Amino acid sequence: MIELTDEQKNAVAKAQSTFTDLKNDSDPLSDKHLALLFGEARSMNGWQDKEVSNDMVKSIYELTKMGPTSTNCCPARFKFIKSDDQKQLLKEALLPNNVEKVMSAPVIAIIGYDLDFSDNMSKLFPHMDVAPMYKGNAEFNQATAFRNSSLQGAYFMMVSRALGLDCGPMSGFNNDLVDQTFFKDTNIKSNFLCCIGYGDPSKIFMRLPRLDFDDACEIL
Ligand SMILES: Cc1cc2nc3c(=O)[nH]c(=O)nc-3n(C[C@H](O)[C@H](O)[C@H](O)COP(=O)(O)O)c2cc1C
Repeated sequence: MIELTDEQKNAVAKAQSTFTDLKNDSDPLSDKHLALLFGEARSMNGWQDKEVSNDMVKSIYELTKMGPTSTNCCPARFKFIKSDDQKQLLKEALLPNNVEKVMSAPVIAIIGYDLDFSDNMSKLFPHMDVAPMYKGNAEFNQATAFRNSSLQGAYFMMVSRALGLDCGPMSGFNNDLVDQTFFKDTNIKSNFLCCIGYGDPSKIFMRLPRLDFDDACEIL
């Protein structure tokens, strides 16, 4: 059983009332908003020549960081590539058929995971000492970092869409080269790239089928 301090007990009560008030005062998203986020949203292959401001990038991160991760470990690290010289460095690592799609994007997020994420656990999970669980098990540490950074990458895409942007996720690149170029002398590894910006509808590919409920799901 975890013993909470009085301050922590107050924080629990505040979190519960904040959440209850929000739910009591909210409707589910409209069909249109669900379509924009999921049903009709598309992966982008080209971009309009329209800037994405640094403030917008920061706003995306501020919501992305609130998505859940196991033991609140928050392993994702983001590099936002905007400048031409940094784009040129990234270009070296791209598969040929991804070059044009990436180079024309106003912002490319390199979504990585920090294998030293547990160094932050005393801040992120202060009521329990979980760092040794990760430090002492390299395989579990890697799986946790990769799983949760992938989730955070997905939150990043959904937040970007919710704020009116489009996304072009991409794993067709040389991870080792990206790591050497952008995460040198760290324990951060690249997971995937995600272009963000205002998509060029004329570059959208045909919609590919998805698996039906009965092919992918089972209710037991
Ligand atoms: C993690 C990830 C990696 C991807 N890698 C690439 C890629 O290297 N090149 C590419 O053109 N598209 C890539 N895509 C885009 C997928 O092909 C696309 O999301 C999928 O076909 C669904 O398209 P839709 O969202 O427009 O329906 C990737 C998507 C994800 C989520």
